[in-house]
Amino acid sequence: MIDLHCHLLPGIDDGPDTLEQALELARIAVANGITHSVLTPHIHPGRYENDAASIQAELKTFRAALEAENIPLQLGFAGEVRLSAEIPMMIEQGQIPFYGELDGYHVFLLELPHSHVPPGSDKLVEWLLQRNIRPMIAHPERNKDIMRKPDKIQPFIELDCLFQLTAGSVAGDFGEAAQNTARLILETGKVSVLASDAHNALYRPPRLDHGRDAAAEIVGSDAAHELVFDRPRQLIQNQFADLRNGDHLD
Ligand SMILES: [Fe+2]
Repeated sequence: MIDLHCHLLPGIDDGPDTLEQALELARIAVANGITHSVLTPHIHPGRYENDAASIQAELKTFRAALEAENIPLQLGFAGEVRLSAEIPMMIEQGQIPFYGELDGYHVFLLELPHSHVPPGSDKLVEWLLQRNIRPMIAHPERNKDIMRKPDKIQPFIELDCLFQLTAGSVAGDFGEAAQNTARLILETGKVSVLASDAHNALYRPPRLDHGRDAAAEIVGSDAAHELVFDRPRQLIQNQFADLRNGDHLD
């Protein structure tokens, strides 16, 4: 399986604090059947001052640590970019890391605030689309506005955004409201990927299996498998030679 949203890099956001904790998360991912993890630290001006260059530097160090420990997890990177007024400037300055390209659009992970859908979010998406950039909306099923009123996701569907659900939401780890909302969004057929959004070993580990299995009950096992393998692979194959060459078996 391929995990497109997780916080495994130590000390740069609210993921693991230490390298030891980070290595433990990588081991858990491997044990869960994850072969490729795309690290997505928070990029949130004023709170987590990460950008494409700083994340790439941290990735290099972590990759070397995994090799030294013989942990067979392949790493790529992007970022979880909080919706903010700074996004256009950061795009123009090349500070936003993209997963890769899909259908001629560069794709990055966009996080709405958990509390609501800010007015004008659709205008930002339009601005991005005009520049051949398509956002993938991170865990819409955990947004309080969307949980209360699932129609709030409609403008993003109409703008052809991609959607990432958190595997644990589908499995019920985030409560009934998030689980029901995840089900509704899955039933639209618009979900692109399930991802772990892992932060720590205890409460938010890097696992996809339970979410995939819960999704299989809703959309069938073939479609559920696509959400943890084929679809993420399309998005990030340029970051991994084995995925690009098609010689990787899950
Ligand atoms: Fe996240």
